[in-house]
Parts: sequence; C-alpha cells; structure tokens
Amino acid sequence: MNHKFKVDENKCIKCGLCVNDCLTGALEKNKDNLPFMKNPLKCIKCQHCFAICPNGAISIMGKNPEDSAAVKQINPDDILNLIQTRRSTRNYKQENVPKETIEKLKAMLNYVPTGCNFHKLHFSFIEDINVMDEFRVMVNNKLISLLNTKTVKFFADKLNKFAKYKDAFLNGEDVIFRGAPHLVVVSAPIESPCINQDGIIALSYFELYAKSLGLSTLWCGFCQAVLKLFPSFCEYLQIPKGYQPVYVMLFGIGNIEYKRATQPDEFTFTTIEQHEIEVGIFDKIKRFFWNFIR
Ligand SMILES: Cc1cc2nc3c(=O)[nH]c(=O)nc-3n(C[C@H](O)[C@H](O)[C@H](O)COP(=O)(O)O)c2cc1C
Repeated sequence: MNHKFKVDENKCIKCGLCVNDCLTGALEKNKDNLPFMKNPLKCIKCQHCFAICPNGAISIMGKNPEDSAAVKQINPDDILNLIQTRRSTRNYKQENVPKETIEKLKAMLNYVPTGCNFHKLHFSFIEDINVMDEFRVMVNNKLISLLNTKTVKFFADKLNKFAKYKDAFLNGEDVIFRGAPHLVVVSAPIESPCINQDGIIALSYFELYAKSLGLSTLWCGFCQAVLKLFPSFCEYLQIPKGYQPVYVMLFGIGNIEYKRATQPDEFTFTTIEQHEIEVGIFDKIKRFFWNFIR
C-alpha cells in the first residue's frame, strides 16, 4: 500500500507530534528524528499526522497542506442555537434547491467521521423535483398494493400506532415524503465495522449544515422501511452492490418558519462518582438481556 508519506525536511522541526498522534504506530522517527512510514499496513489513512503538523511539513496520499481548511474559532452559542432550532419539516416549497447548495452539502459529507476510518459511505441524491415525483408515485403505488392485500390489511388495522398514518396515506396524503422535493439516502458496505452509526452520523451532520444553508430537512423512517421492504428501490436509487441503505433524509426549502426553539423534556443524566457496586444475579441477567436485545 503506497501512502505517499512525504516530509519536507526544510519545514520539519522534528517536534514528533505526528509520530505521537499516530493511533496505530504506523509512523516512527528515523535516526535523524524525522518521521517516516515504518508500517504502511497499519496506517488507517486518518491523516492526523498531516493535520497536526505545526509547519505543514507533511504530505500523505498526495495531499497538500495548503489546500486544507484552516481551524477557525466558532461561537459556541451559534452551534447550540443551530441544534436547538433545527426542526423536522413537513412543508416544502415546490422548487429545486440550487445546484451549488447541494454541491456544498456533498462536499461537507466527505468530512464526517466513520468507525475505524472505514470511510466508504455512498450517498444517493434525488436532486430534481420531477425525479422525486416519479419516485414518490412509484413508492406510493407499491405501498397501496401492499396495504390492500388481505394479510397486511388485517395486521395494519391491529397496529394502532400506525393506523392513523395508514388511513391518511390511503386518503391521498403524502405521509411518506411530506411534499419534499429532494432526498438523500446514505448506504454503506455490509462489511463496514460501524454501518449504522456511520450513516446516522453523516445524516446528523447533513441536517445541521443544511439548516445553516437555509434548508429544511426530515428524517424519513418511513422511506427507510420502504427500502427494506422493497429492495428493488435500492436499484432505482443506484445504491452500490454490496451496500445496505442505512437511512433516508428528505430536504428542500421549507415553506414554513419556526419562530423559536422547542422546550423538550429533559433526558436523564448521571454523573458517576467513585462508589462500590454490588449487583444481584437477577440484575446481572436483566442487564445482559437489555444490552443484547434488538
Ligand atoms: C430516526 C428518525 C426517523 C424519523 N422518521 C420520520 C418519518 O418517517 N416521518 C416523519 O414525519 N417524521 C420522522 N421523524 C421526525 C420525528 O417525528 C421528529 O423528530 C419529531 O416529530 C420531533 O420534531 P423535531 O425533530 O422538530 O424536534 C423521524 C425522526 C428521527 C430521528
């Protein structure tokens, strides 16, 4: 494996930061205290050596330090406000998001973290409202025929939680796509070490960056279920062979404006302090079950 690890000896101050920050021990110092790639097979291509170098002396995989984004100080209040005021949106303008904005979103996605730096996500975008309409009609038709089969009808009526969605859907409401003009599906190779986590993290970043660009989004569990139920839609969305759809996000220009943040119920938090623990056998069994169920 050639990582093209290069050190500009005129710039390197031999501080050793790159070697110390190398997670896997792929880098070592030579007798002149210069870093070199001792164990290329161990390198996970995280580029920490490249990012940490105070002098931009390191290049790896052909990357030029001068082409990297600089580290900026960001106002924490702005980040918090972005998180507090992001909203699931179910009302969209019937127009395409400008191409340049979608390109910005795609460029951002390259920076999301992945477990073990596996970095092999795929993103399928519907960028044209007419294509979205075609997809919407195909999905809805397929679901209507499914809901009209006797067995599904029987179970759908029993599942109270979903009954109202089913009725609204059969009355012609766009329950699945909520009139969104676009969607993005994230998929990952089935051998990914952290398949679900990677995809969900990517869409979480997408949601927030999209909001900062003036867009609205909606996590779409219903469409994710449709992809699981009808794998042929994965072909329509050009999800690569050997990849599994992880989740779907709808997006577009919102047709409504939320004026303030919500005030959600608080989650539970504990601060762990030093203490003795004694766990009974039944609690041990229950904990094992809670950890592994689903
Ligand atoms: C994983 C996930 C899946 C979701 N799937 C859907 C969906 O299929 N349809 C929908 O209308 N909302 C969906 N939502 C949105 C939630 O219902 C929404 O978060 C909730 O209504 C609270 O609104 P908020 O996101 O504005 O705080 C989903 C949210 C998450 C996190």
